[in-house]
Amino acid sequence: MDYKKTLLAPVKIGNRVCQNRFFAQPMECVDSDDEGNPTDLTYARYENLYKGEFGLVDLEAITVTNESRARKTQLEIMPRNEKALTKFMKRLKEVNPKVLIVFQLTHSGEISEPEFSRRVTVKPLYGFEGDLLTEEEVDKIIEQFVLSSKIAQNVGADGIDLKFCHGYLGSQILRPYNDRKWKYGGAWENRSRFAYDLIERIQRAVNDKNFLLGSKLSIWEGFPGGCGSAGPDSPLMDITESIDLVRGLEERGAAYFVESLGNVHCSMAYMEAIQDEPYLSYLHFYFSNIIKQNVKPETVVIGSHFSSFRGKKNKLLSIEPEKSSMFAMGARCIEDGMMDMIGLGRQSFADPLTPLKLREGREDEIKYCTQCMNCEELMIRQKPVGCVLYNKPYTELFREVRKTLGKLAELHT
Ligand SMILES: Cc1cc2nc3c(=O)[nH]c(=O)nc-3n(C[C@H](O)[C@H](O)[C@H](O)COP(=O)(O)O)c2cc1C
Repeated sequence: MDYKKTLLAPVKIGNRVCQNRFFAQPMECVDSDDEGNPTDLTYARYENLYKGEFGLVDLEAITVTNESRARKTQLEIMPRNEKALTKFMKRLKEVNPKVLIVFQLTHSGEISEPEFSRRVTVKPLYGFEGDLLTEEEVDKIIEQFVLSSKIAQNVGADGIDLKFCHGYLGSQILRPYNDRKWKYGGAWENRSRFAYDLIERIQRAVNDKNFLLGSKLSIWEGFPGGCGSAGPDSPLMDITESIDLVRGLEERGAAYFVESLGNVHCSMAYMEAIQDEPYLSYLHFYFSNIIKQNVKPETVVIGSHFSSFRGKKNKLLSIEPEKSSMFAMGARCIEDGMMDMIGLGRQSFADPLTPLKLREGREDEIKYCTQCMNCEELMIRQKPVGCVLYNKPYTELFREVRKTLGKLAELHT
């Protein structure tokens, strides 16, 4: 199979063109300065992705407000950040003008860390607390998203990704569990209002056909009442609303979707398949395919979970290794029409030059992610994140963290 041809073929996204089928997943790295601006560590990470020739880069979850956020040193996109982000984008375009970039706009809601910010919720999950958001506060959050989209446009981003995945505020409002009787809860018409108002208002504010709008969504959050379940406390999967969301966003101008599943608190294995369960990746392909079948042919669907496949030496059962390598599997998924691009998350840490090395015929030099999850541990511990296995400063940081703080209890509990 000529996977190189498939993966290096350009693809149209909205009115723009991605130079190839590689998508760098948004990966939070907790390395901003105190005002949420990029630091040298942030520059180094993104410069590498640009050198690595990803067709489309999704800038990690960047918060529209520093009042409620998940990480102490999380990137921020408020008026005070505009100058620093302009400089950052100028540098990236100098490194490689062909790469497209969208910013993943987020509000952490109930995942906000009370130690340094305000935890807010639309309806507290069992075991969770937080200030109950009022309608006026959600209206204000919509305004913050709109303002951040304008800033993204001003600083030179090619578009935005509305984060409706993994249990952050976007998912919290959408999920059936949000059965509170208010403007943004109860009937689907109310729960989807936030997403639909948001995209419509952003569309009007940016007023630019070339500015990409899209969303990374958890089609199924994997717990009773989560997105993609049959009712507020139902354990049954029913993705009717998730499909409706995809169609509704598409009707309102979304040009692409990034498939995801799970929730950071309770169903993380769906969000990031681990070493012992790489087979969960196939579940993601199933859902990408469903999204693909429910959108217009020109809408770009981006699949996730290719870090499980590695090179030709993976240990996945049942099919010949050369058919289940990351590249062979990615090309197969595109050729079979399940998706248009392949998302690399942890693999983009392990080797940000992956697409470049494929193009130059240097596949043997690619370093593959082993799903050790040490990057995730750094993030949970609010430390700067990178590949602990192959990137020495992060190896040393991780060693230091373990020495001073001890072992972290199970990540996937
Ligand atoms: C350290 C770390 C940070 C992440 N940050 C984000 C993020 O900012 N936004 C997001 O949507 N997903 C985030 N994810 C999830 C990844 O984007 C991706 O969906 C997941 O890791 C599965 O892809 P992979 O198997 O290629 O790693 C993060 C994952 C990790 C391990």
